[in-house]
Amino acid sequence: MSKIGILTGGGDCPGLNPVIRAVVRKGFNEGFEVIGIKDGWKGLIENDTVKLDLSSVSGILPKGGTILGTSRTNPYKKEGGVDKVRDNFKALGLDALVAVGGEDTLGVANKLTQDGIPNIVGVPKTIDNDLSATDYTFGFDTALNIAVDCIDRLHTTAESHHRIIVAEVMGRHAGWIAIESGIAGGADIILIPELPIDIEEVCALLKKRHGRGKKFSIVVVAEGAQFKSGTMVLQEEKLDEFGHVRLGGIGERIAVEIEKRTGYETRVSVLGHIQRGGSPSAFDRVLGTRFGVKAVELVKEKKFGRMVSLSGNKIIDVPIQEAVGTLKTVDMELYSIAKEFFG
Ligand code: F6P
Repeated sequence: MSKIGILTGGGDCPGLNPVIRAVVRKGFNEGFEVIGIKDGWKGLIENDTVKLDLSSVSGILPKGGTILGTSRTNPYKKEGGVDKVRDNFKALGLDALVAVGGEDTLGVANKLTQDGIPNIVGVPKTIDNDLSATDYTFGFDTALNIAVDCIDRLHTTAESHHRIIVAEVMGRHAGWIAIESGIAGGADIILIPELPIDIEEVCALLKKRHGRGKKFSIVVVAEGAQFKSGTMVLQEEKLDEFGHVRLGGIGERIAVEIEKRTGYETRVSVLGHIQRGGSPSAFDRVLGTRFGVKAVELVKEKKFGRMVSLSGNKIIDVPIQEAVGTLKTVDMELYSIAKEFFG
């Protein structure tokens, strides 16, 4: 009987459990044995695994997070990490590995493939939706809907108190959550990492809006957005094993500038990990399920080094390499639509 390992790496997101369930159920139907690797690449370095059978995945479809745990461990940053991955791959008797993750986890999968650990299939996840070679990653839809709900709620206070409210959403390198939640939530200004913030322009737009009788405004900003000076606002400078700093705080900085320059009372709400929590949306459950089933089909066909992907409404497969080369940033056509509603 062939044996498949599955791991989930990087930030957790809604939809991981539907993928795990689908891999186990489809794997069972195909006669595969499935084991879970705990906490992403860490589990493969430390040989920390759990047997997955039908009862282990019963009832997990609507659950957020990942039953396997996750980490931002990078085997390429650990002493002997890659050798341990190679050894444990053998020791566990794995015929294939399904790696579920974003640019970092799949970046490792791609490197391992190139370094002679070839039986890997990738599944794309991230709430940021910034992975190339797939139209959507699961997790994004849930995060987006949470952000929209929060923006709707912030509207009531902004309107009642005649305030500006700045909503800071996630999005390290790409402003997909900001642009789509901003459009859906009726934001008056949306600031994304792809375009430098011109604070004079932001204030001019807010004044214009107030000039036509509106006494409140909502500004949505992605955590990775930067002022023209090009500095990101950080919570912590320390880099993680993939070279990322911890972002957060741009909302507060903008709020201070807005209040100083316009005199309008301004408040901030940082949505943070609330966007990553809770039950996956129907879209993410379906996408995760389709990705999981397709991943097992790729294993069955021995199509390794490939990633499952959504193209239009079809699930296809692409080289993992294509997904991790460059990030998928916000489409400027979408931005220009959002801009019609600024101010
Ligand atoms: O990559 C997903 C993401 O949620 C980013 O939007 C955010 O910058 C980062 O993860 C936060 O990571 P952590 O939960 O490790 O602080």
